[in-house]
Amino acid sequence: MSRKIVVTSALFYANAPIHMGHLVESIQTDIWVRFQKAIGNKCLYFCADDTHGTPVMISAKREGISPEQLIGRVHGEHLRDLKKFHIEFDNYYTTHSPENKQFSEQFYNKLNEKGSIVKREIEQAYCPSCNMFLPDRFIRGACPQCKSENQYGDSCDSCGATYQPTELINPACATCGAAPTRKTSVHYFFKLADYQQQLKDIISAGYTGKSVANKLDEWFSAGLRDWDISRDGPYFGFKIPGEENKFFYVWLDAPIGYMASCKNYCDRNGLDFNSVWNGSDYELYHFIGKDIIYFHALFWPAMLIGNGFKVAKRLFIHGFLTVNGVKMSKSKGTFIKAATYANHLDPEYLRYYYASKLTDGVDDIDLNLDDFIAKINSDLVGKLANLASRSVPMLTGKLDGKLGKLDSAGWNLLNQLIAAKEAIISDYENLNFASVIRQIAALADIANKYVEQNQPWSMIKTDAEKTRVVLTAIVNAVKILVIYLKPVLPIFAEKIEKILNIAPQSFADVDKILEEHKINEYVRLAERVEKDKVNAMLEESKPTQPVLPTEATQPAVPVVQLDEPIAAECTIEDFVKVDLRVAKVLKAEAVEGADKLLHLELDIGGVIKNVFAGISKAYKPEQLVGRLVICVANLKPRRMKFGLSEGMVCAGGPGGAEVFLLNIDSGAKPGQRIH
Ligand code: MSP
Ligand code: ZN
Repeated sequence: MSRKIVVTSALFYANAPIHMGHLVESIQTDIWVRFQKAIGNKCLYFCADDTHGTPVMISAKREGISPEQLIGRVHGEHLRDLKKFHIEFDNYYTTHSPENKQFSEQFYNKLNEKGSIVKREIEQAYCPSCNMFLPDRFIRGACPQCKSENQYGDSCDSCGATYQPTELINPACATCGAAPTRKTSVHYFFKLADYQQQLKDIISAGYTGKSVANKLDEWFSAGLRDWDISRDGPYFGFKIPGEENKFFYVWLDAPIGYMASCKNYCDRNGLDFNSVWNGSDYELYHFIGKDIIYFHALFWPAMLIGNGFKVAKRLFIHGFLTVNGVKMSKSKGTFIKAATYANHLDPEYLRYYYASKLTDGVDDIDLNLDDFIAKINSDLVGKLANLASRSVPMLTGKLDGKLGKLDSAGWNLLNQLIAAKEAIISDYENLNFASVIRQIAALADIANKYVEQNQPWSMIKTDAEKTRVVLTAIVNAVKILVIYLKPVLPIFAEKIEKILNIAPQSFADVDKILEEHKINEYVRLAERVEKDKVNAMLEESKPTQPVLPTEATQPAVPVVQLDEPIAAECTIEDFVKVDLRVAKVLKAEAVEGADKLLHLELDIGGVIKNVFAGISKAYKPEQLVGRLVICVANLKPRRMKFGLSEGMVCAGGPGGAEVFLLNIDSGAKPGQRIH
């Protein structure tokens, strides 16, 4: 009896691109879904963009576009990136949809009728100049503990301290820099504690794994607090019924977005939503990361229970990605976007690598780039592609591309491979992908050993028909291994299916042996990963310009009509941060391939800095060596196409040959500060 399954993975925030961490979840989910289909189950996979909330609203404002425009564009970018990694959704929708609005109101109204919603006045930070309440993340100031500047309202990036936004030193609105005030307003709360017993019941029935259940026990003992589900406008989201300026908090409508995505799919495909989403013959699973357990193990099931919907059978929770052992970091260049990876490396390699690391646990998984290179080159290229490249070309080149019949040694080999089927199925089912990959690699070793023992490349010189028998076994071994791997490597598998001239394979085909069958020409299956590709990916991930901690909003319509509108305001505090120093030009040279740039080496009182300056139309290198210039000494280093630029020389003019360096008295000393 085949099963019917509905699967979701967490909805991506619509204000940021897909990165390598997100892909852990997408790849884990996609492998599981493909596996379910490959063993004959019906499986639907729903996801969407999570579009509401303050960050989306502010990002759109910064870009001078509407939130709808922003989320429309990002939806396209997300889908494009996810497709590159072969993530195959049945529907990738958006939370900013009519279905989601309707469901959100329905959830709210029902919970309200049941008395699970209460109103209460609370006091919050408010920006008098932006006229909006400020979420913690939109307040910046110095950390109360380590005093480092420009930290978020809830935690310090520098020392890791967590605190209340009221504890920040010199708090400021992250958007406009104004000092926040406090203001009260009425909020709506969901009485989570009303559902405590039902939540405990689903958890003891196995809704989460054991270790997570223990964590939840701690939360239960601490007491379930009311959950604030409203936000005052301006806010990008759905209006609360009966209110003019209050909206559902983004996390209220986000999980409802799973249902909206399913509903939209059902309506477009003539399926009955109620039986797909709520029917007892469909099993529902959510894949999530460990950071959003609270929402999925408490709020969301409580909302479902309150509305009479069934709760998912289980949450599948994964850990976080680290790159080379540490949290992804923008400045280290390990904050790798999905699109950047795909510019340099084969997305299937990442699927294979993640699979080789994924278990059913919540431990973090590490993308160690040297290990990544080694694993792909040894397993995928060395073991798997190699089996095909040592058998197929010889068959098509010397034996008319025709398989023969197996002998007992061949059967013996294949029976070992076939015998692993149930264990591999069970590991896939239980999310032990690491074990699947280990078993497949071990089976590939057995098959490669068979090749070594038989040496078809010498056998062919003396006994063509015996060689055909040996190659028939090897080709069948390739076929079996590829069926096992297909949920992980769908494109690799497709290529093999084409070469072997067979229909798309599934687990039911594992023991269907190919004999006396004509195969097609070999095509290259996998290239080795070269270290310089990985380095190029890291290079592209490094920030090209300093990430400004507080960005001023650009007015949507420039106030003055100039050819080039006047840039966003810069405060005197910003301006005095610029540290101007006298510097001596030690070296000056032209930059090949850049006709405007000169490469300068500056001595700023013993500190030597590399600077690329766009002054080559105005100055010849030899005019500059030995000369004193004024240099911005604290400019954040910036990686340019030609190298790292660590400062800037002060010069001005309309451009071209008319650029003039600031003059400085020849008695000045390098390093001296200019005021
Ligand atoms: N929008 C919410 C989820 C709403 S679900 C109703 C959200 N979005 S997210 O874009 O921040 O994260 C999406 C998923 O990616 C989450 O499950 C999150 O745990 C996962 N990951 C985000 N960064 C990650 C890593 N660095 N490593 C592994 N998974 C990560 O949360
Ligand atoms: Zn403000």
